[in-house]
Amino acid sequence: MKSIILKPYQNEFLGHMKNRVVMSAMSRSFSDKNHLCTDEIMKYYELRAKNNMALIITEGVVIHPSADGYNNVPHMWNNNQSESWKKTTTAVHKFNTKIFCQLWHCGRISHQDYTGGIPPVSSTDKAAEGINRQNNKPYSIPHKLTKKEILEVYDMFIKSGELAIKAGFDGLELHFGHGYLVDQFLDSRINDRTDEYGGSIENRCRFAIELTKLMITKFGPNKIIIRISPSRDMGGIYDWPNLNEMINYIIPELNKIGLRMLDISCARANYFETSGRIIRTVRKIWPYVIIGGASLTINEAEEEIKNNYLDMITWGRYILANPDFVNKIEHNIKLIEFDRDMLNRLE
Ligand SMILES: Cc1cc2nc3c(=O)[nH]c(=O)nc-3n(C[C@H](O)[C@H](O)[C@H](O)COP(=O)(O)O)c2cc1C
Repeated sequence: MKSIILKPYQNEFLGHMKNRVVMSAMSRSFSDKNHLCTDEIMKYYELRAKNNMALIITEGVVIHPSADGYNNVPHMWNNNQSESWKKTTTAVHKFNTKIFCQLWHCGRISHQDYTGGIPPVSSTDKAAEGINRQNNKPYSIPHKLTKKEILEVYDMFIKSGELAIKAGFDGLELHFGHGYLVDQFLDSRINDRTDEYGGSIENRCRFAIELTKLMITKFGPNKIIIRISPSRDMGGIYDWPNLNEMINYIIPELNKIGLRMLDISCARANYFETSGRIIRTVRKIWPYVIIGGASLTINEAEEEIKNNYLDMITWGRYILANPDFVNKIEHNIKLIEFDRDMLNRLE
């Protein structure tokens, strides 16, 4: 009998889905100097669509030059960048696979080498600890966003979203996790503001909620997924401070403003110890779509669906290593394990 993971189903917001397999966002750093999507990138996504992924979330796509922090990642703030993705969205749609563009603002996880010489921005003016492995320099001291600049950042997200939709994407995933800009507002250990965007839980969540509300109003609930990472491992297991209070505040607020799709990530941690644990709490107060996972076995993924914790399952590294992932799980063929050398090639 076919696994529930592989059976088609109707998702209330995403429409008809070939199955429940989602390729999760993975930065690959193969964009060109103008931050365009290349033919090589197109072929990489096309191959996964051809091999029956239901939904592809692209690598993080930077919304504005001031939002970058990485080598050779794609951007989405001008018409050429938007045009450059059209071949990819068309190629993916040929196989009835849906594709969402992940919109990304790195905030202070950056260096001014990547932001055109100006300091990156954040909820704080304190630099991130450690070395930026992209250029082996310490992270730059960020500029703390003023209230007027916060509105400008919202506008960057909207403009970038419009360009992505023009390029043919089915929707947008907003990256609110993994320590990047929006997470820098959520996190009380980073956010040291004393205005209405810092301090209390309500204030720290304000940036995320205002931005989501604008995006939902502009694009509609079928086109917006929010990716959060309340518990994750990025150089050590980490939970949002005041985890339960944060969840009990932000999830109902996102519901109230009309959000319907959440992607709950744990970066690269053990799912059950991190996001899987959070999802069990979130499910009690969130009746809509939850996407999640991290290298789950097929049995584990099936259980998560059957127990109504997840609606669709994300896989990252397995899909990177196995473009024919769906076929392999259908026929019980052993998966190739990811190894870091694979990051040097795009295939
Ligand atoms: C090479 C690589 C790049 C990644 N880039 C992103 C990214 O751009 N945006 C994002 O939200 N997550 C990113 N992630 C995290 C993945 O989306 C995923 O959550 C993580 O790999 C755990 O899933 P897995 O165990 O199935 O790989 C990346 C992961 C890898 C391995």
